[in-house]
Amino acid sequence: MKIGILTAGGDCPGINAAIRGVAKAAILEHNIEVVGISDGFSGLLTKDFIPLDEHSLSGILTMGGTILGTSREKPYKKKKDEKESQKAEQIIKNYKAEKFDALVCIGGNGTMKTASLLAKEGLNIVGIPKTIDNDVWGTDLTFGFDSAVGIATEAIDRLHTTANSHKRIMIIEVMGHKAGWISLYSGVAGGGDIILLPELKFSEEIICNYLDHRALIQKKYSIIVVAEGIETKDNMKAGEYIAKVIQENIDYETRVTVLGYLQRGGTPSPADRILATRYGTHAVDLIFEGNFGRMVAIHNNDITSIPLTEVEGKTRLLDPLFPLIKKARSIGTCFGDKMP
Ligand code: F6P
Repeated sequence: MKIGILTAGGDCPGINAAIRGVAKAAILEHNIEVVGISDGFSGLLTKDFIPLDEHSLSGILTMGGTILGTSREKPYKKKKDEKESQKAEQIIKNYKAEKFDALVCIGGNGTMKTASLLAKEGLNIVGIPKTIDNDVWGTDLTFGFDSAVGIATEAIDRLHTTANSHKRIMIIEVMGHKAGWISLYSGVAGGGDIILLPELKFSEEIICNYLDHRALIQKKYSIIVVAEGIETKDNMKAGEYIAKVIQENIDYETRVTVLGYLQRGGTPSPADRILATRYGTHAVDLIFEGNFGRMVAIHNNDITSIPLTEVEGKTRLLDPLFPLIKKARSIGTCFGDKMP
């Protein structure tokens, strides 16, 4: 047997651990030939392949990023003048010419959608969900998320000391695309006083009133954790927008930190290494069972899989009634929707 592995979409810590999990299980348990595909789906278009063996896998467990490279190539996205995308057709041709018996696609929402469409055209596909955003439908957790939360939490811890020294309001903008998972988890872990989520509509007045209240009860500083995907005005970035609201209404000294790509870089957390390894080895189990067109997933800490068709085109956002939001409210965290 011969399988291909590709990594697509935004990179994150843990991708190499997943590649290692797939390749080592395939080679050691089933003596399967494993071929890495460069830069996501574009590598399948240009037939840019990297043979993977024990030697090339050595030492990648702890490495950030992806040894295969990635891209946001969307082969089914038609150009204006195209009747239908030629790229997808070419990918299918190259998959067959290369005599792949299966293709493992490691990626987020966009990757799972492309994977599902290719599976419908008869390719033997298994998806592995990765992203720092934790917003892939059908699984409790994507690897990359725990590492990003750790990075954001450490940053928030550092902001507490400088906010305290200067008696300032410190705003930290974290990633997450349209979801608030990173903001919620790092906000709770880092003791954010206000956490703003795309999924929970906030009121500027409540934010200002709560900051006034904190000043009144002699709280010398405040930490506000803002998801990049919150609704803003005039196309402003999330953190800058909240700073403007504060400065215009209550004029407290405020500073903004945009954590950005630091959340995507560096070595994966132990939890992400373990989850990525569990996902990678389970993907090989599915291949060996001939169980294709599925994405591996974790439900209540059990590794399982679901049909790619169930994932296609969906995003897993936070439910406003998510238990951790309720718990955070019970310790006085303000989500901007009502006074604590
Ligand atoms: O999907 C991961 C992510 O980091 C999002 O949190 C962020 O909004 C986006 O990717 C940034 O995209 P790019 O890497 O293309 O700038």
